[in-house]
Amino acid sequence: MQAIAETLTQKRLSKREWQALESTKFEQIHTEIFKDSDQASKIVADEIAALIRYKQGKGDKCVLGLATGSSPIKVYNELIRQHKEEGLSFQNVVSFNLDEYYGLTKEAPQGYYYFMHHHLFNHVDIDPKNVYVPDGTVAFKDIPSYCASYEEKIDAAGGLDFQLLGIGRTGHIGFNEPGSDEKSLTRIVTLDHLTRVDNAFAFDSMQDVPRKAVTMGVGTILKAKRIVILAWGLKKAEIVKKTVEGEISSDVPATFLQHHQDVTFVMDELASEDLTRFETPWLVGAGEWTDELSRKAVVWLSQKLNTPILKLTDRDYNENGMSMLLGEGGAYDVNIKMFNYFQHTLTGWPGGKANADDSQRPERAKPARKRVLLFSPHPDDDVISMGGTFLRLVEQGHDVHVAYQTSGNIAVADHDALRFAEFAAQLNEYLFKGKADNAEIDKVIKTINKKKSGEMDPLGVRKIKGLIRRGEAIGACRYYGLPDENVHYLDLPFYETGTVEKKPIGKEDIKIISDLIREIQPHQIYAAGDLADPHGTHKVCLDGIFAAVDGLKKEAFMKDCWVWLYRGAWHEYPIHEIEMAVPISPEELLRKRNAIFRHQSQKDGVMFQGEDDREFWQRAEDRNRLTAKLYDDLGLAEYEAIEAFKRYHF
Ligand code: F6R
Repeated sequence: MQAIAETLTQKRLSKREWQALESTKFEQIHTEIFKDSDQASKIVADEIAALIRYKQGKGDKCVLGLATGSSPIKVYNELIRQHKEEGLSFQNVVSFNLDEYYGLTKEAPQGYYYFMHHHLFNHVDIDPKNVYVPDGTVAFKDIPSYCASYEEKIDAAGGLDFQLLGIGRTGHIGFNEPGSDEKSLTRIVTLDHLTRVDNAFAFDSMQDVPRKAVTMGVGTILKAKRIVILAWGLKKAEIVKKTVEGEISSDVPATFLQHHQDVTFVMDELASEDLTRFETPWLVGAGEWTDELSRKAVVWLSQKLNTPILKLTDRDYNENGMSMLLGEGGAYDVNIKMFNYFQHTLTGWPGGKANADDSQRPERAKPARKRVLLFSPHPDDDVISMGGTFLRLVEQGHDVHVAYQTSGNIAVADHDALRFAEFAAQLNEYLFKGKADNAEIDKVIKTINKKKSGEMDPLGVRKIKGLIRRGEAIGACRYYGLPDENVHYLDLPFYETGTVEKKPIGKEDIKIISDLIREIQPHQIYAAGDLADPHGTHKVCLDGIFAAVDGLKKEAFMKDCWVWLYRGAWHEYPIHEIEMAVPISPEELLRKRNAIFRHQSQKDGVMFQGEDDREFWQRAEDRNRLTAKLYDDLGLAEYEAIEAFKRYHF
């Protein structure tokens, strides 16, 4: 096995060697961190392919335990590629899937039988007889015997050679939710609320998400000879830390993996962010004292000790692994330097303050009137995430343009589309005195009425949904006093799949973005740098802007163009990363709230609510108030709320 396992990483160490390293001393599971999920998935696929081939060479079956969900998709894509382009055969593969929703048939598009065929089995030469996915339709009374037979089949195949896992934010592996026992075997389980929320995107509403599932047990998984578990994105950072560094407990079933002798946790940089060696590297003697790390450490120290920066002492630094930060001047010097830094991030003039000394301000004074291009991934991110700054930019006389990158149509409920379609039909009837040709609108109305859960919207319905969002967006812009001609709808093609699953950014998308930048020649671009968006739309939109800016960087006007990143509704930049902090007064906060209210289709509960049941305006206010409080706690000024930005240097 060793030769095969090394394909994942040449650096692979035994558990004991791993823990002997200073920087990873808190980690109980061997982890491998990659820049992104593309690179990581390729390496994992290579290990699986090598195992399949190794077994083939010996004339043996290769028994794989497979997972569904978003995490393994790129691994499967790479395996399909290797099958098609490099002759990797699956003839000797026997596969056992981890789980299936109880109550879903093999045909259900949200089910895992369907998922596995769609993402892997239909594209490779695996023998259908060797494919096992738990059956979600077994009569309830027969489940115990069915589950026992699933275990027997795994044993009869010789046990799992390799188990691929994702991890749920509850800490589940398979669907072994908190409370699952280390020795548990295949059985029926009740899904945690958070898991149902996370998986709701595939269903029409929360009510449609199954409450139960059939899953392999923790014990079944731990019997696998080799385990690789995957985690991508910031959303997984917290559970990754608990799994890798936390105490072993059934509260976080994934921690039982710490008992396995041959497991690797493969993750991208975002998912690894909370591990001690990255979160607080000074505690494990890791990390260079860069300016950014110093700021991070000082903020951490001030928060930990509940002490404003200017009151931190030499002793505080020494006792918390930060003595290396102190130079000859001791805590006094460091404190002053840090205090000044954070103080200078604050500005009420996000477009720069004309005729003022700008040497210590985040933005330039000149030109006094800037052309500003604000990119909003969905039609409401502009006001949700930077509504206060947006308002200031307009009121301070800048030439502000807003570009809505996607139509946002999938987030509009059917009942809203129906209301507008019926409205259009009735208005036509009235205007054309009963002679209107409403045939097309009637078709749309019929489609909405007949639509089944999870079914894709046809174009007509998507158009209505997109128009609803356009109307709301321009309503908010007018409320802020922006001229209509400064509002741009890009309707980027990558988004228009009609489903939650989007295409990656393409040339067409980048061209649309570049054309607008070239037309406006902005001094400032604002873009959503939010990487925790559940469906990845913000990330793709940002990739598009980066690619466009990169392509344009040689053009003369780009020399004067600064790019500022804001984060979406889910997450704020950590204080030490903030480079411009724009205070919002109580009155401005109210106006921001009213602008968010213009987005009626997103009010009172949205299609993809997530586990946070606050409305967007509440999340935005809570988050902006929290940033203000953090600044206040550091001993800086006390404001009602603050919006935060970070500069992107291209
Ligand atoms: C899937 C499974 C689950 C998922 C987990 C993470 O078969 O058993 O444990 O691996 O819920 O899901 P994603 O990858 O969608 O974040």
